[in-house]
Amino acid sequence: MASQGSGRLAGRRIVITGAARGMGLATAEIFAAEGASLALCDRDEQAVRANAERLGQFGGGCDVSDESDVQRFCNEAESALGGVDGLINAAGILIMKPLMETSLAEWQRVLDVNLTGTMLMCQKLAPAMRRAGGGTMVNISSIGGLRPAPTTTAYAVSKAGVIMLSNSLAAELGPDIRVNTVCPGTIPTDMVTDLLATSRDRLTETPALKRLGKAEDVVKAMLFLTSDESSYITGDTLTVDGGWAYR
Ligand SMILES: NC(=O)c1ccc[n+]([C@@H]2O[C@H](COP(=O)([O-])OP(=O)(O)OC[C@H]3O[C@@H](n4cnc5c(N)ncnc54)[C@H](O)[C@@H]3O)[C@@H](O)[C@H]2O)c1
Repeated sequence: MASQGSGRLAGRRIVITGAARGMGLATAEIFAAEGASLALCDRDEQAVRANAERLGQFGGGCDVSDESDVQRFCNEAESALGGVDGLINAAGILIMKPLMETSLAEWQRVLDVNLTGTMLMCQKLAPAMRRAGGGTMVNISSIGGLRPAPTTTAYAVSKAGVIMLSNSLAAELGPDIRVNTVCPGTIPTDMVTDLLATSRDRLTETPALKRLGKAEDVVKAMLFLTSDESSYITGDTLTVDGGWAYR
């Protein structure tokens, strides 16, 4: 895999989920430029393979909610990279519905992808990280996991679960493996196209910094939490929302 000799992630071997587009793809681009070797996965196999090829990295299809698929991809990633010492869990889905209009199948799908998918990736990669002598995991939650909102209950519950999953794993997997969470505010990606179509002004104007976030704002936080610059930080939640959560 392509690995540049310098950069804040030089020599690191990192798995990124949800890397077909959005924040997962932005992470892949910036981490590759910082010298990491990457294994990219997504349920959109064609897109993630194209991204991996463009960046000179390993890539493949994987549904993070499917245990056997996750195990297969983690095995492939470890062998393609010669070991794994980093994980970014960016795969996720959003269903914008009040709970009273949410079917059981929708509830389960959101929890399966956002919470169980994150858990499976951490569970299946922790042994590889131990074999590599340690590592870092960064899981993407959301400000939706910090504050209740009337139209995203299933999503909010899944993302609150990601925070506790990360904090529990930080305690369980230390001292070899650090586990942290980022909580982005609204970042213009395909996931929030519909939300921005109706609420762009409200979402842009309220935060202290008075602008929407960019994917790279979140990636910079994950870069810090993945690099040795954060070597004494684990079980922490970093909010990257321009001040939205505390407005
Ligand atoms: N965009 C925002 O405003 C925002 C805010 C807070 C948190 N988040 C979170 O950030 C993460 C990235 O979101 P994004 O905005 O880049 O969204 P996105 O929709 O652009 O990208 C999500 C990616 O995850 C992939 N994916 C979905 N289900 C999957 C599965 N079962 N297995 C493997 N891959 C799967 C999709 O194919 C897609 O490539 C998500 O966890 C999301 O919940 C997003």
